[in-house]
Amino acid sequence: MGAKPSKPKRILQDGDTDNNSDNDPFIQRGQTYIDKSQEQQHFLRAIWIENFLSPVRGTLSAGGAKVLDVCCGPGTWMFDNASDFKNARFIGIDIVNLLPNEKPLNVEFQTADVLQRLPFDDDYFDFVYLQFVTLWFTEQQLIENIIPECVRVLRPGGWIEISDADVHLYMQGQLGTMINSYGKFFERFIAQQLQKHNFNPFLGCHLEFFLQSTQKVQNIQKKELDFSIPSLNTYGSGMGDTAFRFYSEVGIKSALERGLLKEEDTENFFINSMREAVERQAYFKFYRIFAEKI
Ligand SMILES: C[S@@+](CC[C@H](N)C(=O)[O-])C[C@H]1O[C@@H](n2cnc3c(N)ncnc32)[C@H](O)[C@@H]1O
Repeated sequence: MGAKPSKPKRILQDGDTDNNSDNDPFIQRGQTYIDKSQEQQHFLRAIWIENFLSPVRGTLSAGGAKVLDVCCGPGTWMFDNASDFKNARFIGIDIVNLLPNEKPLNVEFQTADVLQRLPFDDDYFDFVYLQFVTLWFTEQQLIENIIPECVRVLRPGGWIEISDADVHLYMQGQLGTMINSYGKFFERFIAQQLQKHNFNPFLGCHLEFFLQSTQKVQNIQKKELDFSIPSLNTYGSGMGDTAFRFYSEVGIKSALERGLLKEEDTENFFINSMREAVERQAYFKFYRIFAEKI
């Protein structure tokens, strides 16, 4: 499976709470995380209409199907599917157990490190799903470890699906507050910062090649959705605000560190940037890539 995996970039430690994760916009736990995860689930189902795009509805309805949710977080995607497909078995894995205590009968959880060999036989699952996982790992980890391991545990004829978003704000023209005040700093910083740590903010363009490189899948398909911040908010989940805050926090933190922004000006900076992003219909890209194991 190639080189020994380097350490995952972000791992939750047991005992982390919502309080001590305040400084890290990436890390959330506890009831707040579960609530946010439910909002995210409602939002994603609303924009995609379906919980997945792979042609596995028949398999999941037939009975006895096994589904793996990789890095499942609080398991919200599985919970929603578990009531749609009562005869299928959903197994979530994550480095830490974040599931609520009460689970549907057809949902299970196993603690597992996705950078190691997964605790399942070859060809075990009918469907393997990964959602909002790619930015937790480097490209090397995805190509050499995670995707090949997900394909190994998938049976021939089974489907793998990756659902994610680019950590990039696409926009028409340029945003005054963001671009002019800080000399393109804000916009460029996020991409640079992510790339410096071997994250790729534009992974959506590459995932199909990662899947292809396993040489074990066929029928690779990709669907993209563009969502402006105001239209994200029309789904009632506040996802536009959440995504923009998440995005801008990374830039604001660095601007503060470099003395480009004063602490007392950050809220105004955020509000002005947000207003401009709304006016200019700045948008995020969501995508789903799915393929069948040969
Ligand atoms: C952004 S969350 C995605 C959660 C969920 N899939 C969703 O759509 O909301 C990424 C998840 O990856 C998990 N994770 C991080 N490193 C991991 C590792 N090495 N092995 C397994 N899970 C890991 C985290 O605990 C977290 O739950």
